[in-house]
Amino acid sequence: MRRTKILGVGMYLPEREITNQDLEAMEELQTSDEWIRQRTGILTRRFASEGQSGTDLAVEASKEAIENAGLSPDDIDFIIYATLSPDYFFPGNGCFLQDRLFGDRTIGALDVRTQCSGFIYSLSLADSLIKTGQYERILIVGAEIHSTALDFTFAGRDVTVLFGDGAGAVVVGPAPEGHSGILAHALHSEGKYAKELWTEYPASAHNPRVSHEVLDQGRHYPQMNGRMVFKHAVTRMVEVSHEVLAKAGKRVEEVDLLLPHQANIRINQMVASHLGIPEDSVVNTISWTGNTTAATIPICMYEALRQKKLKENDLVLLTAFGAGFTWAASLLHW
Ligand SMILES: CC(C)(COP(=O)(O)OP(=O)(O)OC[C@H]1O[C@@H](n2cnc3c(N)ncnc32)[C@H](O)[C@@H]1OP(=O)(O)O)[C@@H](O)C(=O)NCCC(=O)NCCS
Repeated sequence: MRRTKILGVGMYLPEREITNQDLEAMEELQTSDEWIRQRTGILTRRFASEGQSGTDLAVEASKEAIENAGLSPDDIDFIIYATLSPDYFFPGNGCFLQDRLFGDRTIGALDVRTQCSGFIYSLSLADSLIKTGQYERILIVGAEIHSTALDFTFAGRDVTVLFGDGAGAVVVGPAPEGHSGILAHALHSEGKYAKELWTEYPASAHNPRVSHEVLDQGRHYPQMNGRMVFKHAVTRMVEVSHEVLAKAGKRVEEVDLLLPHQANIRINQMVASHLGIPEDSVVNTISWTGNTTAATIPICMYEALRQKKLKENDLVLLTAFGAGFTWAASLLHW
């Protein structure tokens, strides 16, 4: 059976930088650079400018990934778009991206809604579609606009300081003869914890979907049980990493690079330490990106390439945890 390989990587962060000091200066938020840095490892993040959409960011990251793969948009035959912050309720963002990048080429576009695990879920799906020969080259993009859904008052400070906007993309296709490419995936969900990290409004589960009263109560902002999410994230990311290694018949000592989801530097330090992976075999971007949800892992991959930490055939472990709860891991040869 043919194997799948990541052929190119791209990323895009909006230009507007929001430092911890900028947040500290917002009186109503009542936060500090010191608290954010110590508790999360975040120093700064990017927010989209007025009118800039998730699709706008995705277009830039996708163009770079396609170019980086040495391909043109004409070579792509399917789009997978992971996001928890679509531009609109419907249609999905994949359609907007299809129009912007591919015009008259009416290739299929699928949106994936598994939050911070969205990129790994998408990679797993793309891997199957390539292996079975259904498609030749798939564009996977993760892109988020968090900044338009954050509560810049005291009530929202735990969530607001964590998130940033951005996009990351990869192109996957058949691996060259003899290259093992992507080895295994493990995907999980546990919906009993859905309301520990979620956005309640606007929603089709409510009629009306949103009201003045609900807006006044701030129930359209994300709500999070931070401590609980933290504990589950560490446990599950470690567990699913062991699972994917076992599936592929590999030992953790063989891992050359860990690219973890970026929600909190302390989560990643604990995950690496529990797995026994040394610090210099981990790439983190959280200090300058914040949590960019589905965009995070391809951004992390891009950074690993920039730091020249990724060599042909390196064994790379990806792992993520997020709202749902969902968690996932992939293991691949670069
Ligand atoms: C949110 C998070 C950083 C909070 O860190 P923590 O060490 O658990 O802190 P706590 O929630 O226990 O809060 C400690 C104190 O800081 C306060 N605090 C919370 N947010 C704050 C902020 N932005 N600025 C200043 N103080 C803040 C709390 O009110 C609390 O005060 P108290 O002790 O007077 O009650 C941490 O729980 C976390 O990262 N959770 C996981 C988040 C995550 O991964 N989300 C996305 C999933 S993909």
